[in-house]
Amino acid sequence: MDTSMLDLIRRRRSVRSFEDRPLTEEDKNALEAYVQAVSNPFGVPVRFRLLNAREAGLSSPVIVGEKAYLAAKVERVPNYEIAFGYSFEKACLFALSRGIGTVMLAATLNRSAFEKALELGQNEVMPVASPVGYPAGKMSVRESLMRKGTKADSRKAFESLFFKDGFEQGLSGEAAGIFYQPLEALRWAPSATNGQPWRGVLAGDTLHFYEARSMKDNSLGDIQKVDLGIGLSHFDLVRTEEGLEGGFVFEDPGIKAPEKTHYIVSFRRKP
Ligand SMILES: Cc1cc2nc3c(=O)[nH]c(=O)nc-3n(C[C@H](O)[C@H](O)[C@H](O)COP(=O)(O)O)c2cc1C
Repeated sequence: MDTSMLDLIRRRRSVRSFEDRPLTEEDKNALEAYVQAVSNPFGVPVRFRLLNAREAGLSSPVIVGEKAYLAAKVERVPNYEIAFGYSFEKACLFALSRGIGTVMLAATLNRSAFEKALELGQNEVMPVASPVGYPAGKMSVRESLMRKGTKADSRKAFESLFFKDGFEQGLSGEAAGIFYQPLEALRWAPSATNGQPWRGVLAGDTLHFYEARSMKDNSLGDIQKVDLGIGLSHFDLVRTEEGLEGGFVFEDPGIKAPEKTHYIVSFRRKP
């Protein structure tokens, strides 16, 4: 990719109105090759399929002009939601690098047709799928209204998402140091209903990630954990670009967290 990850992430937005033409063969092949090889740091395989909308009978009431969908399934094993979110968002960012628009859809799609096309197994789940196509010059009225409704162009303040040492003190951009840009990239990640459930506590050289839940589980599991995985992919891609070395570890530090806020994973900086 020739643009930086940070630029790509800053330019990203959900796309719900598409030009009335299919992906070029070149873009289709590139996307197919990318999703076959995409990985995540949680070691859970996510299996993608690029599907023809008309042939598989796929549709969404909030999407116009789409000709194809990218769908994926994952086995319900530990960490499947964050692994899924991480891999799916990487695929969406790759698509964007080629001028292809996406939007993750968990609710507004004819789910059973998608699950049939994916040949979903007993212990498998498809948390989201996304249309893939070229963004239309003008958004549909519905798309504009949806963006207003979810305040899609804004995000919570940095210091209300990220904290220092515990949850009492907000983290300033300055105190975040080398973690600042990766966290800023996370802050601009997409999430279901723009709920932004991610929280982070920086303690020394380790950043602990938490999920502030505002939604209930449904048959798909905890969709906000998928949001966490999406945010973690932004963080991880940009920290790599910024030369911040380290890796994810599961080691709950036992910090007292607000109600409905649960520990997910930590990023430990390499000493
Ligand atoms: C896990 C997940 C599920 C989503 N489900 C839907 C959906 O069912 N329908 C829809 O129109 N948008 C859906 N979205 C898109 C969000 O509404 C959108 O990402 C958010 O409002 C922020 O806007 P932005 O992506 O343009 O920054 C979903 C996003 C995520 C991450």
